[in-house]
Amino acid sequence: MAKTQKYFLPEQYGLFERLKVQLIDGKKPIPTFPIRAQIQTRTACNAECSFCPNTTVGDALSQGTMEWDLFTKIVDEMSEHAMDEIHPFLMNEPLWDKDLPKKIRYIADKRKPGSSMQIKINTNASLLTDDMAKQLIESGLDKINISFHGIRPEVYEFNMGNLKFEPMVKKVLRFKEQLDKASKPKPKLHITMVKTKDIVADKKNIRAFWKSHGIGCNFRPLGNRNNKEVEMKGINWDDWHAYTWCRRPFTQIYILYNGDCVLCCCDWNRTTTLGNLRHKSIEEVWNSPAYKRVRENFLLKDRKDLLCGTCLYTR
Ligand SMILES: C[S@@+](CC[C@H](N)C(=O)[O-])C[C@H]1O[C@@H](n2cnc3c(N)ncnc32)[C@H](O)[C@@H]1O
Ligand code: SF4
Ligand code: SF4
Repeated sequence: MAKTQKYFLPEQYGLFERLKVQLIDGKKPIPTFPIRAQIQTRTACNAECSFCPNTTVGDALSQGTMEWDLFTKIVDEMSEHAMDEIHPFLMNEPLWDKDLPKKIRYIADKRKPGSSMQIKINTNASLLTDDMAKQLIESGLDKINISFHGIRPEVYEFNMGNLKFEPMVKKVLRFKEQLDKASKPKPKLHITMVKTKDIVADKKNIRAFWKSHGIGCNFRPLGNRNNKEVEMKGINWDDWHAYTWCRRPFTQIYILYNGDCVLCCCDWNRTTTLGNLRHKSIEEVWNSPAYKRVRENFLLKDRKDLLCGTCLYTR
């Protein structure tokens, strides 16, 4: 069943209609501050996943590491709001940033007492050394999702390009051993992967393999990431669909290393910059005319000039 839109723009309605939309249609006004955030602490990734635009954009765009002052400014403002999750990565490999544990510790320490905000990373695990693992376990990280696309060497290596299956399995199992030894409730470890044709075919074996090591896994929809090359690969297990609903512009902010806020984690080419956080607050950017225009066009299904107009996924 197609997902329906969950938010409405309060300024489009009078008081009476607004009550109807909320009470009868069950829609909510758009939050005045993001509920989730992705922060790119530094750019780039060392892998070459076949379904990821990382391999096609790369050098054409400016690269760098977020300055500490900008990072703390962003986190300090977030800590004043009730947020669900902060992800200190965006379109990059988070462990490529050697200072990531320190940055996670900063976010964790800024949490107000009683806050339920979670800190999560997704990583390809290739840079998960014993030392990095130890630092992450101590950092205050709540969840770590290891992206591991396949349980047969040929499938894994096709999907992840330059990463090799055997050493990477060892790395994940070694990390699990360290986690068990640390005997802490956090971070919670999961394996995650996208549903390509090959992965869907192996689903049962994949679950069984990770389960035998005490690790749960989840299967995520494959997206085209607004990239024709990804779409044309023929790795999708099911037809491509346009989004009927997408919560990203309504609940999540995506911050690049230089403070630019882009539309979402599919905006690899940085087509839609909605403001910059060096000189503006998150609240200002989130409630800016540029953001409002995107949301309005999305809700009105006027998406031809939005990145969303070319965004596809397979269930
Ligand atoms: C872009 S990566 C960045 C973090 C890290 N490099 C990693 O791979 O885990 C974030 C997540 O997006 C997923 N991903 C990459 N390409 C995708 C696509 N075409 N459709 C859906 N998810 C995708 C990855 O598997 C990963 O879990
Ligand atoms: S999915 Fe993650 S690991 Fe793979 S190329 Fe993209 S950013 Fe790198
Ligand atoms: S491009 Fe639009 S529809 Fe696609 S994920 Fe981003 S916000 Fe959602």
